[in-house]
Amino acid sequence: MKGYNQQSLFDNTKEDLHAIDNINGDQYFFYYKNNKREIVPCTDKEKNIKAKKRLDEIFKENYNIPKIYIDNRDKVKLYNPKGDVEKATALILNPEDGAYDINNKLNDMTGKEWTKFSCSWFIFNALQSDLKEEREVTKDTESHPATYSPTMVSEFIRFFTKEGQNVLDPFAGIGSTLVGCKRTGRIGYGIELNPKYYEIIKKRVPEFGNNVFNDDCRNIDKLPLPKIHYSISSPPYWDVLNRSTDGFKKEREEKGLDVKYSESNKDLGNISDYQEFLREVCSVYFKMYDILEYGAYITIIVKNVKKGGKLYPLAWDMARILNDKYVLKDEKIWIQDKIGLSPYGYPHSWASNILHHYCLILRKE
Ligand SMILES: C[S@@+](CC[C@H](N)C(=O)[O-])C[C@H]1O[C@@H](n2cnc3c(N)ncnc32)[C@H](O)[C@@H]1O
Repeated sequence: MKGYNQQSLFDNTKEDLHAIDNINGDQYFFYYKNNKREIVPCTDKEKNIKAKKRLDEIFKENYNIPKIYIDNRDKVKLYNPKGDVEKATALILNPEDGAYDINNKLNDMTGKEWTKFSCSWFIFNALQSDLKEEREVTKDTESHPATYSPTMVSEFIRFFTKEGQNVLDPFAGIGSTLVGCKRTGRIGYGIELNPKYYEIIKKRVPEFGNNVFNDDCRNIDKLPLPKIHYSISSPPYWDVLNRSTDGFKKEREEKGLDVKYSESNKDLGNISDYQEFLREVCSVYFKMYDILEYGAYITIIVKNVKKGGKLYPLAWDMARILNDKYVLKDEKIWIQDKIGLSPYGYPHSWASNILHHYCLILRKE
């Protein structure tokens, strides 16, 4: 078989047209979906030549193509599921990963990755790899009583932003969101009230040190923040930590770890009146509205909580209140299935173990 290279295919000589019959899979420029729904190379010579030309144009035009395609330019193919090269707008690096559409304004994902994330629920438990990373940077991370995983939050950041965009967490804790930004090539910004947690963030992500503020996030409109493309955060779940069950409290106290965020009266986790808490926590997101780019999404991770034998629908109430300014787009349910169940209510009344959180998704439109 005659060897063939991509450059000579583009030259479109008679010899090239003959030789394309002999090229191996890696050197086709156009892919489509066969009737088994598999992404396969197209063997039509004319289409491959047109695809090569179109690829050159796409890379010259200002399409904001993700870095991975630019870095692997010589391996990128054009793709149209129906085999229509004129209508093709998608790029493929590895057929198994799916295709990236050049008109994608939201993220750098392929259609396959996009669809996978669109499921309305997911199961996620703390990862040893995240905990190990935390301990390598600082032993103090364990002292924060309620963090989420940088791996989990990275998935949201990847979906709701493109590389290089600005992401803000107004309740930054020990900086899990900013670690997610570092891992995914986004620029992290954060606000955290407790100076101890603020210092941990600076140790974990020194590159974002100037982007983190030790402040009350109700001052968000007064801080020197740039336009934000996406915000993900988890506020205090009202004052639940102040009412932690004995086991959680005792275990942490024995280890000398925090059982609540702080004693500060600015700490929203210390507001005991439910309506006042709702007003204050929502005021942060209302103030954030003005610094968001038009079209930006925000994700708020929150739970419905119980107090005195009654359920307070915190997640639903926040969704309803914030829907006055934002457009409530969706919820994604985060399930933790590795937490032991306690016999609440047994043997006389119903009381569930709440092991799911709501990831509320709202948009500035
Ligand atoms: C649920 S934790 C967030 C944890 C964070 N997602 C992480 O993984 O590290 C809520 C955080 O909000 C902070 N907080 C409470 N009131 C605040 C306020 N008024 N301004 C800024 N941060 C506040 C608490 O100190 C706590 O760290």
